[in-house]
Amino acid sequence: MLTAEEQSLIQKVWEKTASHRDEIGGESLYRLFTSYPSTKTYFPHFDLSCGSEQIRSHGKKVVAALSTAVKSLDNLSQALSELSSLHAYNLRVDPVNFKLLSQCIQVVLALHLGKEYTPEVHAAFDKFLSAVAAVLSEKYR
Ligand code: HEM
Repeated sequence: MLTAEEQSLIQKVWEKTASHRDEIGGESLYRLFTSYPSTKTYFPHFDLSCGSEQIRSHGKKVVAALSTAVKSLDNLSQALSELSSLHAYNLRVDPVNFKLLSQCIQVVLALHLGKEYTPEVHAAFDKFLSAVAAVLSEKYR
């Protein structure tokens, strides 16, 4: 799991994204659909063009869930339990897709934070997003 140092790094960096967090979600999703077109199959009911209202509003939801996760780093399983059930039982998202979205979120964070996205921050976020993905996938087993 995340060390105390990694936890505080994630909390500090997430705080810095506060003013542009809503865009981060939508940009990550658009990047996901563009870089990995197979992910679009889960969103047949969405307008997937760049900056569409649906992408923006869904992006806000994803980022809000990540904010919840950042506040619950010691207890991700419980904090994301409902989302885990939703993705496993209702949406049936293949777990491989969580890694793809994590990667897109990392690229977008790097674009927004520039030099502040240091290798240490990158490593901490990679661990954090892997932990979120693990929780969202755990109910598939
Ligand atoms: C819905 C979060 C990964 C597909 C949602 C919702 C949230 C969320 C908060 C809305 C739940 C609600 O309305 O109650 C996340 C997080 C992810 C993640 C935090 C990983 C970091 C994925 C991936 C896919 C996916 C990788 C598929 C490629 C969907 C779909 C919906 C959804 C299809 C329903 C959209 C709709 O019809 O409104 N997700 N998700 N999610 N998610 Fe995810």
